[in-house]
Amino acid sequence: MDRDDAKRRAAASAVEAVEDGTVVGLGSGSTAAHAVRELGERVDAGLDVRGVPTSFQSREIAREAGIPLADLDEASVDIAIDGADQVADGDLVKGGGGAHAREKIVDAAADRLLIVIDPTKEADVLDHPIPVEVLPDARTTVAESVRELGGEPELRWAENKSGPVVTDNGNLLLDCDFGAVEDPAGLAADIAGLPGVVEHGLFVGVADEVHRGDEDGVTVRRL
Ligand code: A5P
Repeated sequence: MDRDDAKRRAAASAVEAVEDGTVVGLGSGSTAAHAVRELGERVDAGLDVRGVPTSFQSREIAREAGIPLADLDEASVDIAIDGADQVADGDLVKGGGGAHAREKIVDAAADRLLIVIDPTKEADVLDHPIPVEVLPDARTTVAESVRELGGEPELRWAENKSGPVVTDNGNLLLDCDFGAVEDPAGLAADIAGLPGVVEHGLFVGVADEVHRGDEDGVTVRRL
C-alpha cells in the first residue's frame, strides 16, 4: 500500500464534509496537509470558507493554496480536519510535528473534528510516546515528574540544527513513553497538572469522526 495515497484519500473524504460559508480548522502534519491543499482546490472552484491554521506549516500551505485565513479570536470554528500519530478507541496521540498545543485549541473549539489517517495509525491501545510541550525552564522538573508518573521522557532533538526542537511557541518537547496507556483521560489530567507543561499530545474524547484511507477506499468511523 502506498501510504501517501491512503493519506490523500482520507483527506479528500474529510474535505467532502466542508460546507460553503464555514470556518475550517486546518490541521498540521502530512495527512492534514493533503486536506489543506484539497480545500484550496475547492476554494479555487468557488467554495467560500475561511481557514484557521494550527501551525506555521498549515498557515504556509493554506496561503499557497489560496485559502482565506481567520484568527481564532475573530471566528468560531465549524469543522476541523487534523491528522494523528495514533488512534485507539477514538482517543488520539498527536504532536509528532510538535504542533499539538495550537492543534488542541483549534480542534477542541471546532463543532466537529474529523481525524484523517492511514491504516498504520490505528491501534487497540494507545502506546505511542506522548509529546509534551514544556516551558524551557521546566524541562528538567517536568521530566522528573513524568518519570514519577511511570513515563520515560526524551527531549526531542532537531535534525538539521544543533540542539533541541523549538516549537512554534518557543518551547521544548519531551516525548514521553508510557507504554500502553490504559486510562488516557487519567494520564491526560496528570500530565496537564504538572507545572511548566504547556500542552500534551493526548486528545481524549474530542474527535467526532475518523477517516481512514486504505489501498482502494476510505472507512469513516463516527464516534
Ligand atoms: C502535528 O504536530 C501532529 O499532531 C500531526 O497531526 C500528526 O503528527 C500526524 O502527522 P502525519 O499526518 O504527518 O502523520
